[in-house]
Amino acid sequence: MKNAYLQIEQSLELSGDVSLVGAKNAVLVIMSSLLLTSGKSRLKNVPASADVLHMIRLLEELGAQVTFVQDEHILEIDTLGVNKWQVNPDIMKKMRASILVMGPLLARFGRADIAMPGGCVLGARPIDYHLKNFAKMGVKIQEEGHFLHAQVDELIPGKIVLEYPSVGATENIMMAAALVKGTTRIINAALEPELLDLIAVLKKMGAQITIDPPAMLVIDGVDELLPITHEIISDRLEAGSLLLAAAITGGEVNLPQAPAYALDVFLLKLEEMGHSITVGKNDVGIHLKATDSPHAVSFKTGPYPGFPTDLQAPMMALQCLAEGTSTIEETVFENRLVHAHELQKMGAQINVEGNKALVTGVEELYGAHVIASDIRASCALVLAGLVAKGTTIMTGIPHWQRGYEALEKKLAALGANIRLHAQVNRHLKFLHREGEMPTQDV
Ligand code: UD1
Repeated sequence: MKNAYLQIEQSLELSGDVSLVGAKNAVLVIMSSLLLTSGKSRLKNVPASADVLHMIRLLEELGAQVTFVQDEHILEIDTLGVNKWQVNPDIMKKMRASILVMGPLLARFGRADIAMPGGCVLGARPIDYHLKNFAKMGVKIQEEGHFLHAQVDELIPGKIVLEYPSVGATENIMMAAALVKGTTRIINAALEPELLDLIAVLKKMGAQITIDPPAMLVIDGVDELLPITHEIISDRLEAGSLLLAAAITGGEVNLPQAPAYALDVFLLKLEEMGHSITVGKNDVGIHLKATDSPHAVSFKTGPYPGFPTDLQAPMMALQCLAEGTSTIEETVFENRLVHAHELQKMGAQINVEGNKALVTGVEELYGAHVIASDIRASCALVLAGLVAKGTTIMTGIPHWQRGYEALEKKLAALGANIRLHAQVNRHLKFLHREGEMPTQDV
């Protein structure tokens, strides 16, 4: 829906119970891991987000048979017929997570032809950690413009040291190593909850993987991995977005499936702001009751268990209206504060210097025409739109739809006045061209 837009009117006190879908960042890599097996697997709790649909197409083009019952969130993938290792460059350009098929393809065929991946523009975002370490495992990589041809006779096990705990690089190397004879150790591995869900899947397939403190993955390769049935963990980022929607509008929300254990630092910051949080048994389930006088809070993003970079933009929307001055330091991505500019259009007071943002709370935000630059920025702008006076029009909808399955409908069920329009209408096009803010009659 390239020309679509969201229209958001001020909607205060969102409240109610919401159920969550499975985590996009878990399901994409788990879908890719099925290439390590030959046969039919079944995944439950799969969100029908655009990235999942992209990954389905990618796997189908490699020869997999896929059935997705979207209403029931059940995805069946049969990898028996997979007979190609050339990944469609158009899909790679749409979604950075396409790089995650490289490890499984190398393990299965000893070959992978890929294009440089795309996805959200968050700084340089190279794939050097993936490539360097595959090279260490014996893979020869030939570059041809934007294309990479990777080939190996037999992957070599050994010690892989990551200079940064990259989620994707850890996943890619771990998947390849699962079928490599001998022991591979990944030092300074990422341990995000979605990656732990991948480990659970690989173990169900028959892989031998252990986590040694503080952050080492030990993978003892096996000869074969078998198809599985698995329920994807609930999306902590969708949970975070819904909690923030209740918090910013002064409402109250209950998320019975929310993985509180995966959101500790984020929840701590919400409490510091003044919101009241109750967590369910075994750290699952979160209830939030918003304060009507939120205070400024400061945080720094970091690899898990730090503050998730994917909730930095949505949290900034709240800080815009909190009393006092908040600071944000983005340490994971080098260019992930672009949304500040769009929030400024709505009246926010934000100063960005390098990877830091200083947010001074204002009394009110105002509706504006804003453009989402990445998945999580789209969420920040929707949250701001919920409390802004007047109408907010957000374009850049493909980002919103890549990350969330119809989150606008869940917000509407909580009382939000938000509508997705399939086509930019003529009036909006005119305003967009003139650079003006659209008003209520759009
Ligand atoms: C994953 C998540 C994304 C999340 C991010 C950090 C998926 C599909 N996406 O992305 O939502 O924001 O983790 O939690 O799971 N880097 C390099 N070279 C590399 C790889 C990464 O320099 O080869 C850098 C990146 O530019 C970034 C940092 O390392 O600055 C972290 O990236 P990484 O953890 O790899 O993120 P992704 O796996 O792409």
